[in-house]
Amino acid sequence: MDQGVIRTATEKDVPEIVKLENKCFLDSQAYSESQIRYLVKKANSFCLVETSGDIVRGCIILLFRRGSKIAGVETVNVDPIFQNRGIGRQLIQAGEGEARKRLMKAIRLEVSVGNTQAILMYQRSGYIITGLLQNYYQFNYFGSRDAYRMKKIL
Ligand SMILES: CC(C)(COP(=O)(O)OP(=O)(O)OC[C@H]1O[C@@H](n2cnc3c(N)ncnc32)[C@H](O)[C@@H]1OP(=O)(O)O)[C@@H](O)C(=O)NCCC(=O)NCCS
Repeated sequence: MDQGVIRTATEKDVPEIVKLENKCFLDSQAYSESQIRYLVKKANSFCLVETSGDIVRGCIILLFRRGSKIAGVETVNVDPIFQNRGIGRQLIQAGEGEARKRLMKAIRLEVSVGNTQAILMYQRSGYIITGLLQNYYQFNYFGSRDAYRMKKIL
């Protein structure tokens, strides 16, 4: 696979990130364009994209809370046609690098209990399941509303 580039997302990337979101999730589960625009621009969130030429193949959105040393992963998405080639893991590593730069001590995230692919990706990246959150989601994701909380100490 050609070597992609991981860089900070800008407002210009928003349409491509929205397309990616819609390829990865059903309409009702995907973030809208205005939500993505807000997350890309917001001072306490941070978005990285993985690109090959003009194509955005993946993205990660991290959240930082004032006064907290624990960063959050809001989402990691990889275009289905480029999945299972290591892009997701590279995005997580790059996100961890950014969190370390901001002196974060850990990263936390929630993932649907049915999202096996994502759970494996996080486990392969060193995250461990620290809890089960029942009825965490408003809608069924991957057949369940429950989520695992996962964490990695940086
Ligand atoms: C989850 C997701 C981001 C993974 O991205 P990816 O680029 O395919 O992941 P990687 O290629 O880096 O794979 C990382 C690990 O995940 C697992 N994995 C990835 N794709 C898999 C598949 N199709 N089947 C089984 N395991 C898989 C493997 O364990 C892999 O580790 P390995 O390469 O050491 O075996 C991607 O599947 C995706 O965008 N899914 C839809 C959106 C989503 O659910 N995001 C997570 C929200 S919390």
